[in-house]
Amino acid sequence: MTNKIEALYIHIPFCDHICTYCDFYKMVAKESLKEKYIKYLIKELEMRYKQDYLNDIKTIYIGGGTPSSLNSDLLEELLTKIESCINLDKVVEYTFEANPGDISYNLAKILKNHRINRVSLGVQSLDKDKLLFLGRNHTKENVINAITILQNVKIYNINADLIYGVNDEKFGLIKKDLKILSKMDLTHFSVYSLILEEKTILKQKFTKGEFKIMNSDKERKLYYKIVKYLHKLGYHQYEVSNFSKQNFESVHNLTYWNNEHYLGIGSNASYYIDDTRYTNINNLEKYFLGIDIKDLIYSEKNLLTEKDKIAEEIILGFRKTKGISLTDFKNKYNKDFFEVYPITNDLIANKYLTFKDNFLAISPKYVYIMNEILLKFL
Ligand SMILES: C[S@@+](CC[C@H](N)C(=O)[O-])C[C@H]1O[C@@H](n2cnc3c(N)ncnc32)[C@H](O)[C@@H]1O
Ligand code: SF4
Repeated sequence: MTNKIEALYIHIPFCDHICTYCDFYKMVAKESLKEKYIKYLIKELEMRYKQDYLNDIKTIYIGGGTPSSLNSDLLEELLTKIESCINLDKVVEYTFEANPGDISYNLAKILKNHRINRVSLGVQSLDKDKLLFLGRNHTKENVINAITILQNVKIYNINADLIYGVNDEKFGLIKKDLKILSKMDLTHFSVYSLILEEKTILKQKFTKGEFKIMNSDKERKLYYKIVKYLHKLGYHQYEVSNFSKQNFESVHNLTYWNNEHYLGIGSNASYYIDDTRYTNINNLEKYFLGIDIKDLIYSEKNLLTEKDKIAEEIILGFRKTKGISLTDFKNKYNKDFFEVYPITNDLIANKYLTFKDNFLAISPKYVYIMNEILLKFL
């Protein structure tokens, strides 16, 4: 092992129902399949433990799919195993993704007892019609109830995922949600524009002409209103779609945007270890087989060249509002950023980029056209 691995992602590919917009790797599964999956996930964890990949873990993120769709016994089995492989005294952030409708006192206590200190709720909206359109099976009351329960068991670091840009929605709709949720002292918001992914129910409906997508100009204006309002509510933006109270930025997700190494386990989990990008196969039978023969099966295995690494540093680093640290860049690659990319000077002069305290960032008003700016570097 060459680089320190401080972040671990664990993928649970099960959901109790499928949302209209989602193309993540997930399925509705029988209990017997979930049991088999957890058994193999534990084997993969043990394998990584024996290979010494888990010694320096500081953040754990159990995501999906919907981890809260696991029954209590299976969840306890997984969490207990994690405790035996990882020193939780060194873990600063331990996140669990949940559907708001799944949070009961029983589940919240299990999470607390196993030292999970952050919960990410797939809220999307508090509006009945918007939730119906997105195919979500929870209500505003479920969300409020979930937050109350989590805070009652002393899990205070709570994120809400929200989606905007649905149909012709007005800013007032999401503003109302943000106001209610911020009054409940959420520490973090991830706010995503609705993406019409191929092979989703929503895409089929769109193709049949059942609804129109929001035009990009309206969507951009909506985005900036959300950014401004969140700022007013006391949440600072630290990434294109992520906002937090002071000191509640997601340490785990920053590992990705800082282009650091991290480990993933589970079917379809992506990870970056030994300078190589891997994705475990997204087929459960093949995933099980790989673990049985002690030779994991991947859908991607890509050893990065220095050129690849620099490109990723830029694509990921510019997502952060703080931008890319040119000191870190120099330390990592032994190169001067301005010498590698002389175009940088023009982009600063034309105010597309800002350069402050040796950090290079995309100017706030151009964050929305980030991809066009990135093209200048690739
Ligand atoms: C894969 S989900 C996991 C969270 C959990 N399963 C849930 O939804 O309750 C992570 C987040 O990605 C966002 N997301 C997924 N598909 C999206 C899409 N097509 N457009 C915008 N956001 C999307 C949603 O906000 C979702 O909560
Ligand atoms: S958004 Fe979350 S709950 Fe809905 S299908 Fe995707 S992973 Fe499952």
